[in-house]
Amino acid sequence: MQDYRIVVVDDEPANLESLERILKSDGGKVTLFQDPEEALRFVQRGSVDVLLTDLRMRFLNGIELLESVKKADPTVEVILLTAFGTVELAVEAMRKGAYDFITKPLQRLQVIRTVHRALEKRRLVTENLSLREELHATGVGGEVLGRSESLVRLMGLVNQAARSRANVLIHGESGTGKGLIAEYIHRGGQGLFVKVNCAAIPENLLEAELFGYEPGAFTGAVKRKKGRVELANGGTLFLDEIGIAPLTFQAKLLRFLQEGEFERLGSNETLRVETRVIAATNLDLPVAIKAGIFREDLYYRLNVVNLRVPPLRERKEDIPLLAQKFLEDSAKKNQRAVPMLHPEALAILVEYAWPGNIRELQNLMERVVVLGRSGMVEAADLPTEFGGSADLRTVTIPLGLSLRQVEKLLMEEVLRASHGDKKQAAKLLGVHPRTIHRFLESTEPVRPGEALPEGLPEETTPPVAEDF
Ligand SMILES: Nc1ncnc2c1ncn2[C@@H]1O[C@H](COP(=O)(O)OP(=O)(O)OP(=O)(O)O)[C@@H](O)[C@H]1O
Ligand SMILES: [Mg+2]
Repeated sequence: MQDYRIVVVDDEPANLESLERILKSDGGKVTLFQDPEEALRFVQRGSVDVLLTDLRMRFLNGIELLESVKKADPTVEVILLTAFGTVELAVEAMRKGAYDFITKPLQRLQVIRTVHRALEKRRLVTENLSLREELHATGVGGEVLGRSESLVRLMGLVNQAARSRANVLIHGESGTGKGLIAEYIHRGGQGLFVKVNCAAIPENLLEAELFGYEPGAFTGAVKRKKGRVELANGGTLFLDEIGIAPLTFQAKLLRFLQEGEFERLGSNETLRVETRVIAATNLDLPVAIKAGIFREDLYYRLNVVNLRVPPLRERKEDIPLLAQKFLEDSAKKNQRAVPMLHPEALAILVEYAWPGNIRELQNLMERVVVLGRSGMVEAADLPTEFGGSADLRTVTIPLGLSLRQVEKLLMEEVLRASHGDKKQAAKLLGVHPRTIHRFLESTEPVRPGEALPEGLPEETTPPVAEDF
């Protein structure tokens, strides 16, 4: 028994009566309409969860009603009642936002199950809407999102660091947001944010890049070039991947950090700048010092403010918010509608260990936006390493159905799963799209328990054979 508000529209009073009986027995608050226009006015006044409407009606047909209802309140889920032979129209309606369709003759259990699923979907939509609202309301660190205790604590330190000019050392696993936090610290201040990736610049060029050079300093040095240290004067120099900077470079860097002085390559003139240094690494520097690959004195120079960015698995509370943000970003970038996250899928994301941290989550969300066919990300839509099963859904087939009925059931289910996309459904079933058309056009009712007469010619549909 559930508590819900449902509107039923049908121009056949007998159908209205039987649906009222079924739904009331399930605990629904039912309002009946023979006139679709009146039903629409009722929906516009609010407080309706689900609308169940006949597809073929005299004045306003079910699809027109669907469109007006969705305009009035997109969160109302619409289910269509179809007679056999109008399934194609119903499939069209699903494309236009109908939740599902039920083929007549009506069966109590089927009606109730479909309504319950529609209610579940509506609950999801409302939950996702509140997640979105929360996302847009969070103020923690502007773009550095998160509500976990460890992130909020970190952002407290980050904000303090942002108000000072002290050197900062940020460490944390790959993809945890070190780069983003470095930019955030700079944003409050003056000057330029100049980045040097110590891992990406070849050893022999690092010094020239950082301190600049005079013409003739080395082969290929034709014009004077200012180094990044100079560009960052008054601003921030971000030394990314500092942990793997070569030892010779570390020595030069140390002098600069100690004296604030340097010379361009090929010049004797000593220059002074006022540059704040933020360094980041995913190495454990104390371990690197013991191993002899990092200078201890440099470590102390850099480590005035020490920020540890926790891995995502240590702040699971941030996952829903971040997932939502990346879904929205990817949808915008790929010009798609923002899909919803099913709670089961979200639960899997929250439990996953995220070795690639936030960047891995970001990539996965882009992947589900690009590959997703429906507006919903379900557990099965996640890759198998997440415990998802890609496209495996199950269909329960009651015993006692004829082979023809099983085919019909399967085809309907696959069409549902493909959200009315006939080509996709044909592919999943391994048949030619024409077979799907033929099925949809067929008006032959196949009722449960009705066996086909012996000796009837076999279905002429070729199985996988035809290519498409
Ligand atoms: N708290 C956060 N809120 C929103 N986006 C985030 C957050 N943390 C990280 N990101 C995003 O995740 C991605 C990875 O972050 P970033 O590049 O800063 O990580 P990193 O620690 O520097 O990684 P690496 O060690 O590989 O350089 C970026 O696109 C970044 O904008
Ligand atoms: Mg980085």
